[in-house]
Amino acid sequence: MLGLGTFTRVTRELREDLTAARDRDPAARGVGRLEILLTYGGVQALLSHRVAHALHEAGVPLAPRLLANVTRVGTGVEIHPAADIGRALFIDHGEGVVIGETAEIGRDVTLYQGVTLGGTGFARGKRHPSVGDDVVIGSGAKLLGPVAVGDRAKIGANSVVVHDVPANSTVVGNPGHPVRVDGKRPGGPDADWAHLPDPVADALRSLAARVNELEGIVADLTGKRPESGEVHPLRRSRGGDTAGG
Ligand SMILES: CC(C)(COP(=O)(O)OP(=O)(O)OC[C@H]1O[C@@H](n2cnc3c(N)ncnc32)[C@H](O)[C@@H]1OP(=O)(O)O)[C@@H](O)C(=O)NCCC(=O)NCCS
Repeated sequence: MLGLGTFTRVTRELREDLTAARDRDPAARGVGRLEILLTYGGVQALLSHRVAHALHEAGVPLAPRLLANVTRVGTGVEIHPAADIGRALFIDHGEGVVIGETAEIGRDVTLYQGVTLGGTGFARGKRHPSVGDDVVIGSGAKLLGPVAVGDRAKIGANSVVVHDVPANSTVVGNPGHPVRVDGKRPGGPDADWAHLPDPVADALRSLAARVNELEGIVADLTGKRPESGEVHPLRRSRGGDTAGG
């Protein structure tokens, strides 16, 4: 139902969104709310979404989708009216941002231009990302499927995220992978793909050591040294220790 409560909530959301733009865009410092409202496409798209979402929740037919479409044409930002967006989102620049129907966004999130919170395939139900609080998503990043992004995560520009993102982490690349968790490089399995382990060389090395040992024992027992058959120890020709991470 549309009522005074909805009106008050939407007004509060609009005020917070304008403050978020002023706080998080260095170029907006000292710029008045009216100027931001008139000149920031990302902010206009969000304000329009607040209204479209309220209409959608009240069960109003057609109007929410119509409003979302007019906003897309005007700002280049497409937000489905059903998307659940928390307080103080800031969409910087805006153009090319797509936020899908079942996407959820927490508080104080920042999105740059070209971000997609999209689905994969034709599955129904929850199929778009859930983004935690205080998350920053860089320009051109694509988050696909019902992945969960933890609080205070940073997603690098142009990353393609198809797996959950831990809280307090920085994720970059395609596929997106953490390069920092709690400010440290993540440990875990060996990711040194350039210097792969060589099990055949390891086996030969171990065999050579056994042969050397046995030759020593035979020589001690018989007093005869082998004439040839010197076994050269295998050495790495290049590369570091594969045990590294
Ligand atoms: C991801 C991001 C938030 C990381 O910032 P940060 O916390 O300061 O982290 P760093 O710059 O120390 O980067 C950490 C590592 O990720 C790498 N990295 C950073 N951003 C990357 C990106 N977009 N793609 C690939 N690798 C990236 C860095 O080279 C560094 O690698 P290293 O571990 O080998 O040193 C930032 O680089 C980014 O992409 N921000 C988006 C900004 C944006 O979209 N601006 C648009 C303005 S219009």
